[in-house]
Amino acid sequence: MRLRLPWTGNVSEITIAPVAWREDRVRLLDQTKLPQAEVYLELEDYHDVALAIVEMKVRGAPAIGVAGAYGIALGALQIMAETKREFLTKLEDVFTTIGNTRPTARNLFHAIERMREAAEKAGDIAELRGALVDEAKAIHRDEAEASRKLSGHGAELLKNGDTVLTHCNTGPLATAGYGTALGVIIHAHQQGKKIKVLATETRPLLQGARLTAWELKKMSIPFTLITDTMAGYFMSQGKVSCVIVGADRIAANGDVANKIGTYTLAVLAKEHGVPFYVAAPTSTFDLSLPSGDRIPIERRSPDEVTHIQGMPIAPAGTDAENPAFDVTPHRLISAIITEKGVRREF
Ligand code: MRU
Repeated sequence: MRLRLPWTGNVSEITIAPVAWREDRVRLLDQTKLPQAEVYLELEDYHDVALAIVEMKVRGAPAIGVAGAYGIALGALQIMAETKREFLTKLEDVFTTIGNTRPTARNLFHAIERMREAAEKAGDIAELRGALVDEAKAIHRDEAEASRKLSGHGAELLKNGDTVLTHCNTGPLATAGYGTALGVIIHAHQQGKKIKVLATETRPLLQGARLTAWELKKMSIPFTLITDTMAGYFMSQGKVSCVIVGADRIAANGDVANKIGTYTLAVLAKEHGVPFYVAAPTSTFDLSLPSGDRIPIERRSPDEVTHIQGMPIAPAGTDAENPAFDVTPHRLISAIITEKGVRREF
C-alpha cells in the first residue's frame, strides 16, 4: 500500500507495505524485526503464512485478515484436484489452517467467509484459482478503503492542539491500509492540525514502542512514548485530550475486544472525564455475538511475559498469564468510528 501523505505544505510519500501479493507469492514485512531492520519475507506456501500470523510477523486485525486472504489464495494455487468438489474439500483444510492462527481478530474470519463465498460462486478449477486471488486483492482494497474513510470521520473529532493517547499499533502496519486509531491521527495531522501523540509501549510485545513509534517517526508526527502504567498519571495531570484505540472484535452491543490494557485505559478515561474513542472498520464487527463476554480471547505463551525479546526478566520457572486482549464494555466508550461515520449510541 503506497500512502500519499500531504501535510504542512509538503508532499511526502511513504511506503509502508506490511502485506502484498507479488507474482503468486505473499510478501510480508516481518514486524518482529522492527524497528531494528526492515526485512521482507516472500512466502510460497500457505502454511508459512499461517505461521507468520501466529508468530505476529504480520499482526493487527485488518492486516491479519488481508494476510489470511492472500494465504488462502496461495493455498488455492497449491491445491491439486480433478473436480470442483474435490477442490472445495481441500480448500476447507486451507481455511482451517488459516483460521486456527489468531482467534480474536474478527477481520480474519470475515476474510475467510468472503473467500469461501468467492470459491462457491466460481466455475471450473482454473477460474476458481483466479477468483480467489482476485477476492483476496478485493479484501485488501476494501480494508484499505474502509480505514481511509474512517480516518477522515475520526479526524473531525480532533482539535488543533490535542494530545491523543493511543495503545498498541493501529497504523498502516496493522491495517495494510491507512490505519484505524492511528489513521485518525494521521488524517488530522494531514489536515494541518497540531496533534501530539502519547503512545503506550504496550507490554508484553511492545507494539507501541517498536511499531507505533516507528510509524510516527517515519511520518514526522510528534509523539512521546510512555509505559502502559503511566497513562493514569498523564490523565490525572490533564495532559490527555482523548484516547483513541483500535479493535480486534466488536460485539453487537458495542463491547470491544482490543489489545490487553485497553480496558484499563477506558476505566481511567472515565474516571478523568477523558473521551474514549474506538476506531475500526465494519469488518471488525461480529453481530453474531450479543455482547463482549462471548468474544474469544487469545491466550499466548507465558514466555512473552517472562521474557522481553528473548531475554528473561523473571526467575526461571515463574508462572505467568498472557491474555492478548481484553474487553471494554460499551458503557465506557464515547463513540465508535467506522467507515460509515461516528456512532455514539449502542
Ligand atoms: O496482537 P496484535 O498486535 O495483533 O494486536 C493489535 C491490536 O490490538 C490493534 O489495536 C487491533 O488489531 C486493531 S487496529 C488495527
